[in-house]
Amino acid sequence: MTIKRVGIVGSGIMGSGIAEVAAKSGHDVVLRSRKRDSADAMVAALAKSLAKQVERGKLTDDESTAIRDRVTATANLHELADCDLVIESVVEDLGVKKELFKELDLVVKDSAILASNTSTLAVVEMAMVTDRPDKVCGVHFFNPAPMMSLVEVVRPLTASDETIDAVSAFASACGKDPVEVKDRAGFIVNALLFPYLNNAVRMLENGTASRDDIDTAMKGGCNFPMGPLALLDLVGLDTSLSILDALYDEFRDPNYAAVPALRRMVTAGQLGRKTKSGFFDYNR
Ligand SMILES: NC(=O)c1ccc[n+]([C@@H]2O[C@H](COP(=O)([O-])OP(=O)(O)OC[C@H]3O[C@@H](n4cnc5c(N)ncnc54)[C@H](O)[C@@H]3O)[C@@H](O)[C@H]2O)c1
Repeated sequence: MTIKRVGIVGSGIMGSGIAEVAAKSGHDVVLRSRKRDSADAMVAALAKSLAKQVERGKLTDDESTAIRDRVTATANLHELADCDLVIESVVEDLGVKKELFKELDLVVKDSAILASNTSTLAVVEMAMVTDRPDKVCGVHFFNPAPMMSLVEVVRPLTASDETIDAVSAFASACGKDPVEVKDRAGFIVNALLFPYLNNAVRMLENGTASRDDIDTAMKGGCNFPMGPLALLDLVGLDTSLSILDALYDEFRDPNYAAVPALRRMVTAGQLGRKTKSGFFDYNR
């Protein structure tokens, strides 16, 4: 199956990034947000990002216009009916995602694949609320999606080989490097990454070192491009907490038990870059 028309549901950090990636690689994209204003804002942000790339000489005016013209915004789920692939990228909450998969299953054509960009949740749970569990899988992009080359293609027990092949081919067509992984919380990257990020918060909370010294140490000592606390701010502290909670629920490994300081910051609405305040301050 060849994927030409892609629906994206969710207008957050990841939904916008995946939309840009898909449109730039020649796919028609339908962006769906619950509110028309948010969908329009996503298209406006995409136009701004493309304009910057034209300024920097990375795209021509004609290419930028062609990419923009491939994207439509909507608040109506029914406008996804003709998509070959719909990627869900809404809040990391299993209840919300299951409801969405139920609705998508009713409105999208029978041959379409439904995929989740979840970071940790069990994809089989989403597959089993549909009448097409063989056509449901995970497609986990990384943040920021236009820059990060990896896509984890997640295979729940129910997925067919055709589905996994078609989604891997889509990821390659987007210029990404797909890897296949079983449907286990955290897949490959987050299962390895989040104990590290959690322990960085623990280290800060214990007073072992300051925020800046923890980040400086991991950049200089391990050659990581960002420190762990800056990375948590980029991912979003709410999303990070949901990831740790899902990992802990599945494995009961104390390394996955979220450090209390992280939970308190989420309660306080300090979610990182998206609220301009997290471990670092982004107001300036
Ligand atoms: N942030 C990351 O680094 C990252 C990386 C890879 C994957 N993900 C995954 O991508 C998904 C989206 O994360 P994000 O970082 O873009 O989050 P975000 O907070 O930026 O956006 C979440 C989106 O979900 C929508 N939403 C919230 N409640 C909803 C509801 N009840 N029904 C429908 N939509 C609702 C919001 O309007 C928003 O558009 C999550 O599953 C997350 O785990 C995130």
